[in-house]
Amino acid sequence: MRTGPTITSYLCDLLKRAIHCIIKVIKERCNQILRNMEASLTARDRVGIQDFVLLDTYTSESAFLDNLRKRFHENLIYTYIGTLLVSVNPYKELDIYSKKQMDTYMGVNFFELPPHIYALADNVFRSMQSEFNNHFILISGESGAGKTEASKKILQFYAVSCPSTKLLNNVRDRLLLSNPVLEAFGNAKTLKNDNSSRFGKYMDIQFDHQGGAVGGHILSYLLEKSRVVHQNHGERNFHIFYQLVEGGEEDLLRWLGLERNCQRYRYLVQGDCAKVRSINDKSDWNTVQKALSVIEFGESDIEHLFGIIASVLHLGNIKFEADVRGYASLNNNQEMHWLLGIPTQVLQQGLTHRKIEAKTEEVFSPFSVDHAVYARDALAKAIYGRTFNWLVNKINESLVNKDSSRKTVIGLLDIYGFEVFNVNSFEQFCINYCNEKLQQLFIQLTLKSEQEEYEMEGIEWEPVPFFNNKIICDLVEEKHRGIISLLDEECLRPGEATDLTFLEKMEEKISGHPHFVTHKLADQKTRKTLERGDFRLLHYAGEVTYCVVGFLDKNNDLLYRNGKEKLIRTSFNNLHNYYKQTTDTYISVTPQVVTQFKSSLVSLTEILMSKEPWYVRCIKPNEAKQPGRFDDVLVRHQMKYLGLMEHLRVRRAGFAYRRKYEIFLQRYKPLCPETWPNWKGTAAEGVQCLIKHLGYKPNEYKMGRTKIFIRHPSTLFATEDAFQVCKHKLATSIQAKYKGYRAKGDYLKQREAATKIETCWRGLLARKEREKRAWAAICVLICYRFIKGFMTRNQPVCVDNSEYLAYVRQNYLTRLRDNLPKTVMEKDSWLTPPPIMQEASQLLKKLYIRHMVRKYVQGITPQRKAQLLLKAQTSSMFKGKKENYPFSVCRPFMDTRIGKTKLASSRSQGSRPLVPVVKYDRNGFRPRLRQLIFTQEAAYLVEDAKIKQRIDYISLKGNEESNTHGDLVLQCDYLFEALTKLSLIGNQQNSIKVVQGSVRFDIQPGREGFVDFKSGQESMVYRAKNGHLMVVTNSRG
Ligand SMILES: Nc1ncnc2c1ncn2[C@@H]1O[C@H](COP(=O)(O)OP(=O)(O)OP(=O)(O)O)[C@@H](O)[C@H]1O
Ligand SMILES: [Mg+2]
Repeated sequence: MRTGPTITSYLCDLLKRAIHCIIKVIKERCNQILRNMEASLTARDRVGIQDFVLLDTYTSESAFLDNLRKRFHENLIYTYIGTLLVSVNPYKELDIYSKKQMDTYMGVNFFELPPHIYALADNVFRSMQSEFNNHFILISGESGAGKTEASKKILQFYAVSCPSTKLLNNVRDRLLLSNPVLEAFGNAKTLKNDNSSRFGKYMDIQFDHQGGAVGGHILSYLLEKSRVVHQNHGERNFHIFYQLVEGGEEDLLRWLGLERNCQRYRYLVQGDCAKVRSINDKSDWNTVQKALSVIEFGESDIEHLFGIIASVLHLGNIKFEADVRGYASLNNNQEMHWLLGIPTQVLQQGLTHRKIEAKTEEVFSPFSVDHAVYARDALAKAIYGRTFNWLVNKINESLVNKDSSRKTVIGLLDIYGFEVFNVNSFEQFCINYCNEKLQQLFIQLTLKSEQEEYEMEGIEWEPVPFFNNKIICDLVEEKHRGIISLLDEECLRPGEATDLTFLEKMEEKISGHPHFVTHKLADQKTRKTLERGDFRLLHYAGEVTYCVVGFLDKNNDLLYRNGKEKLIRTSFNNLHNYYKQTTDTYISVTPQVVTQFKSSLVSLTEILMSKEPWYVRCIKPNEAKQPGRFDDVLVRHQMKYLGLMEHLRVRRAGFAYRRKYEIFLQRYKPLCPETWPNWKGTAAEGVQCLIKHLGYKPNEYKMGRTKIFIRHPSTLFATEDAFQVCKHKLATSIQAKYKGYRAKGDYLKQREAATKIETCWRGLLARKEREKRAWAAICVLICYRFIKGFMTRNQPVCVDNSEYLAYVRQNYLTRLRDNLPKTVMEKDSWLTPPPIMQEASQLLKKLYIRHMVRKYVQGITPQRKAQLLLKAQTSSMFKGKKENYPFSVCRPFMDTRIGKTKLASSRSQGSRPLVPVVKYDRNGFRPRLRQLIFTQEAAYLVEDAKIKQRIDYISLKGNEESNTHGDLVLQCDYLFEALTKLSLIGNQQNSIKVVQGSVRFDIQPGREGFVDFKSGQESMVYRAKNGHLMVVTNSRG
């Protein structure tokens, strides 16, 4: 149990360390909060002000521009002017449009988070929901400023944030996918924007009372039809043409008679940039195809649609030639075959003749080539323009909301901004007129809403000085006197009306107007800046000079009369049907383009006037479409004609800042001890108490019915700064409290855990101790029995020693098993047995040796056996008799001792044993090399295969009796081997004698000789002086 306190101290240590860590984390967090707070206090200088209304010098354009630039360089592209959103095109992808960002802005108060298009979209949506009224968001700015992108972002926000059901998702998809279709047909690459919308678009999104998007409606304005037949250098026709040629399936192109090469079509190459790096026509084609199927375009609709698009391309390729009279004629035009399904004859006549109806007669007057080209282009433009309208109608059909219950609406107006080019024509006139109208609407609505807010809050309205552009709107649209009326009049009047007569008419009727000037009406200085065919309007955004050339034609936008018939005869049903509804009135009663446009603007104004306005003003930071570049001059210009300063002035006319009492109190209540942490009375009283505590002067604020109005931003900043400091203190005290609470909670938890661990640990130790003791008891018993057994080991087996003896036995046998001799030769290394194993050991040893011998014998080959027999014979003959015998034991005997060559020469001897010998003459002991061969009968001395002497075995007696012929003296290196073989083959064992000292022999009968032996350094044989044969052997000889 000694471990208890150790564990407790260990756990305490652990606890201390954990608490230390927690304190460290909290400290770091505090520092971070401090750093953040400091950062937010200085951030105002670094990233500018997020609402221009809070700009101190709100009348200064430079201060405005500085703020915009500062934020732009920090990638903060959005800034408010009250509820108006200014957006600067970043020309790069910013990570601010994710789903996470959408979630962040959903349902959050407008000013709580940094400015964002999502904040505006969300606020519009929530206002619509809570007030159950209609709203619109007007997105304006010059080409490339990001209007279309902004409208897409808003649509995407609604797609994600609105409730979804299968039905609603269907509508949502159609709303989203109407965009790529309209962009394909209505957008084109221009010098200013690779995806420039060449029409104005107003889109209504209809919501049910739960906020689900249930339908939509699109209105389009003034499609730039002239682009179909003409594009400036560096610009393209509408995307759809290129998409069809590049992306269309082979079968479709074949069916339409098209080639996959834009260069083949005159209408596609005038800008000389059919291919654009930033545009992927092929993948866009696929997108459009998918979108068309979602928007419920049937197969035949799609076929007809692209049939018409292809017809326009073919139409553009038609060439005219002048005949002998100078009239246009059409020869060999293969394109005709593909055109609109109209009989070639009719089309041919239609394109080269004008039909003049005179009372009862019809006369066809031929065209000049120029006229024919004009008629062809007019037809192409008309076809495309009407197809576009048909497309919009078709999309509207698919977006229509079938439920008749009342809906609320959010309108999105993505409309062309003010345009000023080097040469401005009829289109710019219409666009700028549109912008004048929208500015007028903006002024009315903004002032109105400001005034209304003041009235509602019971605060006195202070008139705001601003430029009212109504005078310019009147100049353009006034009945009988306005430019539009004069233009229409000129178009419709009989006689030779031209662009110049129109100019003269304007000079006559509106001379002296402060916003209108022409070359003729201008003073000398201004005249230098005007051409004779120009007129200049002083728009609210600046002056624009228009070239009058083309005004009448463009305003008329007439197809020659038989053009209409051509169209009617088209076999393309959709076009046909569409025209059926409109053509009857087309030539006679259709108003001029500008009047149509004016009417559409009037109805647009009506639509907008009935809704609550919200504004997004898009700004283009540079002309080069580059990220990070902010061109001051360009932006300043846009600020001006977007009316940003004007808007700011209106918003700042009275009070810079206003907030609902509840919101104001909620944020700033920590600044006053009476309002912190909770105010018991009404929010207005709380605010009153708070500002009294803060020391606001009476002229710095006004209390409205529901809102507090603060006159100067500096007052608000002072309050905000005080709040930041106070927040720090509050954070510290909250942190301290929280820290204490957390530490206490953690401590209690850890203490409980420690107790639990301690209990478990103690139990575990106790169990281990018990096991140890039990084991010790067993050990003592075993030792006792062992000692007893040892002491009685020599006694007969009894209870006391039986276990010990068994152990000894087992131990001996185990050791013996591991130490058995490896070979027969090691038999003496047998493990010494304990006394009780003596007998058993002997038996085992015997058995084991027999086993080894048996194994050895079984492993012996016949050759080896023969060798061993020979060796045994040798042993019996020489063992203990010859000094060098032991050295020969290990040398195996061989069948023959003669080399291969010699063997060959003595082949006649077969396989009989052969031994090389030296024969010494008995007289003089001359050595002679011989071979000794043993056969069954006799031994032979042979020299070079010649038998020199036969020695019968019988003659070998082995005693010293005289031989009749005398003895042979032979020296042999393999004596034991030779003699053993001889003894065996000749059965002469008894004849072999080992003699010590000298050997006597008979030189001849009766004459004896001797061989003496001695040891020396070197082996040699010689005749000694005493006449004996002296054999010197080295120690081993
Ligand atoms: N918020 C944005 N983030 C990133 N890129 C943008 C953003 N807004 C605009 N852009 C870039 O600017 C290009 C032009 O924008 P957009 O087509 O919306 O201009 P626009 O005002 O509609 O011009 P136009 O009047 O010619 O139709 C876009 O293709 C895109 O590359
Ligand atoms: Mg656009």
